[in-house]
Amino acid sequence: MSLISLFINAGLSAGGAVVCYRLILDYIPIFIARKMYGNDQCKVSNAPVPEPMGVICAAVYLIVMFMFIPVPFFEWIGMESTEFPYAKLLAILSGLISISTAILLGFADDMLDLRWRHKLLFPTLSSLPLLMVYYVAGNSTTVIVPSIVRHLIHPIAVLPITINISFIYYIFMGMVIVFCTNAINILAGVNGLESGQSLVISASVSLFNFVQIYRFGTENTTGFWHHIISLYFLLPFTACTAVLFYFNKYPSRVFVGDTFCYWSGMTLAVVSILGHFSKTLMLFFIPQTINFVYSIPQLFHLVPCPRHRLPKYDPKSDTVSMSIAEFKKSELKLLGSIFISICRSIGMLYVNEFEKDGEIYLRINNLTIINLVLKFGGPMHEKTLNDVLMTIQILSSCLAFFIRFYLASLFYDV
Ligand code: UD1
Ligand code: MG
Repeated sequence: MSLISLFINAGLSAGGAVVCYRLILDYIPIFIARKMYGNDQCKVSNAPVPEPMGVICAAVYLIVMFMFIPVPFFEWIGMESTEFPYAKLLAILSGLISISTAILLGFADDMLDLRWRHKLLFPTLSSLPLLMVYYVAGNSTTVIVPSIVRHLIHPIAVLPITINISFIYYIFMGMVIVFCTNAINILAGVNGLESGQSLVISASVSLFNFVQIYRFGTENTTGFWHHIISLYFLLPFTACTAVLFYFNKYPSRVFVGDTFCYWSGMTLAVVSILGHFSKTLMLFFIPQTINFVYSIPQLFHLVPCPRHRLPKYDPKSDTVSMSIAEFKKSELKLLGSIFISICRSIGMLYVNEFEKDGEIYLRINNLTIINLVLKFGGPMHEKTLNDVLMTIQILSSCLAFFIRFYLASLFYDV
């Protein structure tokens, strides 16, 4: 029955993609008329581009999901109420609550340019319905101890194969949600990048789920259900995102907006929690994790952070190069100077020190992996830059599969 539901879900997803395509075409002039647009900062024309078009796809996604809700439960309709799988229904509904709140947060950010503390607090709180359902459904909070650790500790103590880390697991899942909702939004600013990276991750995670379903084989295991429910959320998301990418790729006809970035991050976090693979999800977020770690000094204002960190456009050569943050050396906090010295010594940062009006100034590249690619690769066309970043994302997915299915079996008794 789960597989039949999955086929219906795939059919609804295809329908959703067609509706997205039509609605985006219909809404492009409406967005422009309502002055809902952003200016493409890497084009000569600085042309207005409708934004946030992600809200249209998110709305279609929610409608597809709402239409799908009864499908996995057809076989129980008309049966005694005690037999109805309420836990499964609750899991789907709680996932949708978290996703809907992320869409609301994203739209509010597009309209109001929210402060960082709100962007962190809101997803933390919106994870609670999902974590509550995870708790009442009695889902596992145990982690497997790597066999190498057990062998090393063995002479001193005998470690169990699994350890129940209880509430720490909930804190970890909450952090996954907050990280994912913001991670895609801070790796942005190049045509096709937000939608492209989300498409690669969602397609990779879908493939991971299909592999796991094949490995479980039988419908009657809980593992099978975890990966099926994950696909129920992912297939419509992948379909709607593919259409959005078609319009968002170079040269962008629409911008996805923060609505899309938060929706995308939250959907991926939700599927990993409902699918019980939140640790594996982090493997598919390797570029976003590196980007986040590299960004920390600017995000936490140890180093000054301009409003936009997207690459700098050169209209003469029609290329983009790394964008620069310029500030007085005296403004730098201690941790900021330590970061700059370390990154400079290992060649991970462009630094230029100069004197102006008796003050020492520093120029450094903005701390994103987009600028890092431009530091190493030099100025390039915006499309080439996005292709390079997409290739990195695809290679990271390959690495994730290698770690999950090959390396993990060396370290874990799985
Ligand atoms: C995040 C980034 C910011 C980056 C911006 C680009 C952090 C902390 N914030 O901010 O550094 O500059 O995303 O999206 O890392 N735009 C383009 N071309 C594109 C996509 C976007 O020019 O392909 C510009 C447009 O002017 C668009 C604007 O970026 O209107 C959207 O920025 P917004 O999503 O509001 O920025 P943030 O998410 O706050
Ligand atoms: Mg944004």
